[in-house]
Amino acid sequence: KDLIPIKDVYEDYFLVGNAVSATDLEGNRRELLTMHHNLATAENAMKPAYSYNDEREFDFTEEDELVEKVLEEGLKMHGHVLVWHQQSAEWLYTDENGEPLSREEALENLRTHVKTVVDHFGTSVVSWDVVNEAIIDNPPNPMDWKASLRQSGWYQAIGPDYIEQAFLAAKEVLDEKGWDIKLYYNDYNDDNQPKAEAIYQMVKEINENYAAENDGELLIDGIGMQGHYNLNTNPENVRRSLEKFISLGVEVGVTELDITAGSEGVLTEEEAVAQGYLYAQLFQLYKEHAEHISRVTFWGLNDATSWRADQSPLLFDRDMQAKPAYYAVIDPEKFI
Ligand code: G3I
Repeated sequence: KDLIPIKDVYEDYFLVGNAVSATDLEGNRRELLTMHHNLATAENAMKPAYSYNDEREFDFTEEDELVEKVLEEGLKMHGHVLVWHQQSAEWLYTDENGEPLSREEALENLRTHVKTVVDHFGTSVVSWDVVNEAIIDNPPNPMDWKASLRQSGWYQAIGPDYIEQAFLAAKEVLDEKGWDIKLYYNDYNDDNQPKAEAIYQMVKEINENYAAENDGELLIDGIGMQGHYNLNTNPENVRRSLEKFISLGVEVGVTELDITAGSEGVLTEEEAVAQGYLYAQLFQLYKEHAEHISRVTFWGLNDATSWRADQSPLLFDRDMQAKPAYYAVIDPEKFI
């Protein structure tokens, strides 16, 4: 209870976020959430699969409840996610035999999905992950970003321009309504240099093409570095990727930060300190580039409910007690 709120420490730097499910808005989880954070991302609720009922009609009942509670608590909300190959309704891009739909049909579904969802949530969100995880891991020829794209359902039906099309559809709604909502491309293994290069090339080309016809305006406002790291992650690689993305003139969000350590839910003292050390190095880096960083979002409140619970990746332990990682984030210089 007498801990320093993380959001206060970083007030002058960037927003501090966390991933939320409905249970994070009750009891002591709610307390932990609201004490330390000023931004929330729905861990699952706003993914494309959950936007529809069984009749393939839009149904935002659960999402609306979650968003309303988050806003009531005074946190801002980040939208996650419009276009992804996981947790998606497959009928959006495949037929009943599992074959890709025609480009026209899939494109229409993509545009309808993106526009309806963006319009529905409106200014309840400050930003959207428009496209998530489109690039493969370790692409062999990263300068050719189109050859580095994952062969997802959307890709197979529409082709490489599905990414640009998704951003254009979102942008149409924002322009029509006059809303200032930042549009992000979001991906993991962001410290992998070939992958970072492919992301860089993709965002550069899409933004240059758009800018040429729109008075220099950007289509993709930001790049999300998910930040699912581990004790072998080299912070120098994170720095390289971060600085590369910033050089595009976009903002960067650290969108899903966690650092795995230990196994079977057990951390040795040494591992807990090593984990803290990497958190401290990362936050030093984020502070250094804070001008270009919109937010740092952790992917879960405590180790017990993390998607990687076995490897205790967060700042608070199973009993919701602060770990060395918490103190590392609060005062990186001192921790190092
Ligand atoms: O909702 C069903 C429930 O009805 C069922 O009984 C239960 C049984 O397994 O599964 C529930 O669905 C689970 C869902 O989370 C909601 O809890 C899925 O099995 C489970 O796979 C899913 O995991 C999520 C994962 O994305 C899916 O890929 C994680 O919670 C979530 O943390 C994770 O988040 C992703 C980001 O969106 C994108 N970046 C990577 C990140 C980590 O994978």
